[in-house]
Amino acid sequence: MDALLEVRELRVRFATAHDLLGRATAYHDAVRGVSLSVARGECLGIVGESGSGKTTVANAIVGLVEPSSGEIVYDGVPLPSLAGRERRLAGELLLVFQDPQGSLDPRMPVWAIVTEGLAIRGRLSRKALRRRAAELAEMVGLSGESLERYPHAFSGGQRQRIAIARALALEPQILVLDEPTSALDVSIQAQVLNLLLELQQRLGLTYVLVSHDISVIAHLSHRVAVMREGEVVEEGEATRVLTAPSHPYTRALVEAVPRVGQANDGAAT
Ligand SMILES: Nc1ncnc2c1ncn2[C@@H]1O[C@H](COP(=O)(O)OP(=O)(O)OP(=O)(O)O)[C@@H](O)[C@H]1O
Ligand SMILES: [Mg+2]
Repeated sequence: MDALLEVRELRVRFATAHDLLGRATAYHDAVRGVSLSVARGECLGIVGESGSGKTTVANAIVGLVEPSSGEIVYDGVPLPSLAGRERRLAGELLLVFQDPQGSLDPRMPVWAIVTEGLAIRGRLSRKALRRRAAELAEMVGLSGESLERYPHAFSGGQRQRIAIARALALEPQILVLDEPTSALDVSIQAQVLNLLLELQQRLGLTYVLVSHDISVIAHLSHRVAVMREGEVVEEGEATRVLTAPSHPYTRALVEAVPRVGQANDGAAT
């Protein structure tokens, strides 16, 4: 398989207590030897209960958390290397957060927010930035007028669209989506997931999708990795993992999801 992203034996240990000199005296092993591989154009879903280490894996991939050991290899280049860092900084690998509220500057109009990364690169005129903002708005289903407004004027779903547009501005290869819809109402969740699906197909994006919600994972993922207590307990093709899980923990996760029509299953026979 042609892997665009590989996570090899990733371990992340957090210090949870320090002595008076600031030396760590207690640790928590949040990620205990996770290996994953994501092909170009694929969506890998990472699911698991709260505290299983999903966000820590996502953050390590985008460089927000330092691995204690192991490797993140992006397009054949280990990310801690200089070349890897540059590509990460260039926006080829980006994180979209759970709660866009906290990550959108309330003092900036939407057009400036979505093109901020481009403005920092400094290659485009203000006029070109605005033109690009209009394209991005169209791409994520925001109206042209929204570009002049400020983040507080938007609903949660619209704010997530703004966050997605901002990420797309840098033309990333990989988007790491950490609970992209869990702050949203169920009806809005589906719209944002459908947008992500459409964008993936249209732009050939590669996704790492982190969610505790198995129905969100099912919506987008080609393959699924199930995490528990810092380890991957099961990994495989999404349909197989979600319909015929082999690990008892995955089975418990899948069975906990209420399905429409499930109550009628018995009555029909
Ligand atoms: N900076 C940190 N310092 C110490 N412990 C941390 C830190 N970040 C996370 N942890 C711990 O590591 C474990 C994994 O956390 P993580 O946020 O990766 O879980 P998660 O699977 O994303 O959970 P959730 O579904 O609640 O978002 C948890 O026990 C958490 O308390
Ligand atoms: Mg998390």
